[in-house]
Parts: sequence; C-alpha cells; structure tokens
Amino acid sequence: MTHIVVLNGPNLNLLGIREPALYGSATLADVEGQLRGRAEQLGVTVAFAQSNHEGELVDLVQGLRGVADGAIVNLGAYTHTSLALRDAFLAAPIPFVEMHLSNLFRREPARHQSVIADLAVGMITGFGARGYLMALDALVAHLKEQMS
Ligand code: DQA
Repeated sequence: MTHIVVLNGPNLNLLGIREPALYGSATLADVEGQLRGRAEQLGVTVAFAQSNHEGELVDLVQGLRGVADGAIVNLGAYTHTSLALRDAFLAAPIPFVEMHLSNLFRREPARHQSVIADLAVGMITGFGARGYLMALDALVAHLKEQMS
C-alpha cells in the first residue's frame, strides 16, 4: 500500500495557538486527524512527524528513503534557510509536496525563497490547514500517474 509521511518543522506543534490570524485555529492534531480520514478514503497509509530541531529533521528526511512512497513537507522557517535539509532531500530522492499554511508570496521577501521548492513535485501555499488535504490528494494522484 502506498505510504505517505507528513513532516512538519519548527513551531508547527503550536498550530492553532500560534498567530491564529495567519495560521488558523486548527491544531496539528486536528490536521492529522483529517489527513488520517482522507488517507483512508484514498486507500493509502499515512504517518506523521514533527520536530523543532534542524538536525532531527535531517534524520527524519534521511529516514524516508525506502520507507515512504511520498511525503508532504512543511519545514516552517527552515524552508527559507536550511541547506542541510535541502541536501537531505537530495540524498533521499522521494516525491514530495511542499506545503505552507500561509501564502509565502504575500509575506516578507525573505519568505519568498524556498531552498527545497525546485526539488518538490509542487507547492501548496496560502490555503491554511486545508492545504494539507489538497497536498495529500495531489500527491496520491501524482504517485498513481507515475505508477500507471
Ligand atoms: C510556514 C511559513 C514559514 O515562513 C513560517 O516560518 C512557518 C510556517 C507556513 O506554513 O505558512 O513556520 O511554513
């Protein structure tokens, strides 16, 4: 069965509490619950990981190899800075969707840059928590296309 890992980076454990006007009121547990339901409908399995630590995220990305068929990735602020995480994705070439709750391009110029965007199948940015479901739908459709 197709297996998807959803990886969240720094401060995303505070979803629902942190800047709700920007990131919404759904918690990470809410998002994970919704994704579990959608995964079941789509006939795929899903697992979740979150870390506030760059090195731990590098370990998690390295661990995707041979385990996950695809990933949904929100690296939080490391999106804009972490060459270590870019290198980890280069070393574990796995189809992934880059996900952001906020629209990066409506924010400060420093957030317009993503060090992983060119490695992703695509990016979803600006649709709040719903974006995770959109990312799952898009990723599963992409993987099906690749397999057929
Ligand atoms: C974010 C956008 C990042 O710039 C920010 O640092 C985050 C969340 C988003 O989901 O909109 O932590 O990745």
